[in-house]
Amino acid sequence: LRRNNGCSIRLSRRSEKRGERGLPDITWRSALRWARAQLELAGISRPGMEAEYLARPGIGAPPVALLNAERTPSVCLWRRYVEVIQRRAAREPIAYIRGETEFYSLVFYVNPDVLIPRPETETLVDAVRDRANSMPPGPVLELGAGSGAVSVALAVHIPDRPFVLTDISGAVLQVARINAGRHGVKDRMSFAVGDLYGPVTGSCFAAVVSNPPYVRSADLAGLPPEIRQCEPISALDGGADGLKFLRRIARAAPRHLRRGGVLALETGAGQARRVAEFCRDFVGEDVQILHDLAGHERVVVSRYE
Ligand SMILES: C[S@@+](CC[C@H](N)C(=O)[O-])C[C@H]1O[C@@H](n2cnc3c(N)ncnc32)[C@H](O)[C@@H]1O
Repeated sequence: LRRNNGCSIRLSRRSEKRGERGLPDITWRSALRWARAQLELAGISRPGMEAEYLARPGIGAPPVALLNAERTPSVCLWRRYVEVIQRRAAREPIAYIRGETEFYSLVFYVNPDVLIPRPETETLVDAVRDRANSMPPGPVLELGAGSGAVSVALAVHIPDRPFVLTDISGAVLQVARINAGRHGVKDRMSFAVGDLYGPVTGSCFAAVVSNPPYVRSADLAGLPPEIRQCEPISALDGGADGLKFLRRIARAAPRHLRRGGVLALETGAGQARRVAEFCRDFVGEDVQILHDLAGHERVVVSRYE
């Protein structure tokens, strides 16, 4: 295998025949150097770190390979490593390559059907978790549940409360089901495919929580390639002003909240104050804006009185 970036690695016929016995022309040191060069060429900002990270167990090499850089990888591990480096060089997010990501200190299965849960969304979980004891009895509704990360994290920390998860896509909810099963909370969850509150018409909840699509349509083209090319557009596109879903969710919230119930919404950059106005108009005067760990206004919480 040759690359024209000054870093070539040769997989000879003779080596291939040796199969699992190793590749005499390659060491883990040279493999990492090759991978780093590939990622650098692709514009990845921390190529060395990612080259090593992608050589971890479950992806490529067992740890021993990294401890002893002069060892030769087996053909099988080398092929796997080449494949993941090529996928990353094509700007596929690491979470899709690994098939998992961490959120709220829990590991979630992800695939390209779902948005990769983001650290800032942990603020949305905190907002509901912190109010769990003051909410009326009854289930929590999540609109646009995606991988299920928000509801699963809440269910792990709020015992006994049932959850209803909706999403426009059945494939997405399949991922949420898997994650609910992984974390032992599936028996408290129900899943319904449909447009926002459509599948729960006529039902009222203790809380409605959502991280809906909120990127302005015109901004989609400027997103990094990892997001633009790989993550589902249906999880991102919030319409002309980015507020299409946030506005619809707030307007219909009073028909789906019990008295004293909580509406918690994640918002994008510069949207929180506008969303707080909808909440005051549609839900009630008790509205708060919460900041994420980076200090950005991120979540709007209101209480239906
Ligand atoms: C930004 S993602 C959030 C996913 C997950 N809750 C999270 O925080 O990681 C938005 C989700 O809303 C879903 N969605 C888009 N339009 C929808 C609609 N009209 N009704 C219900 N869900 C919708 C998408 O499929 C996607 O899973």
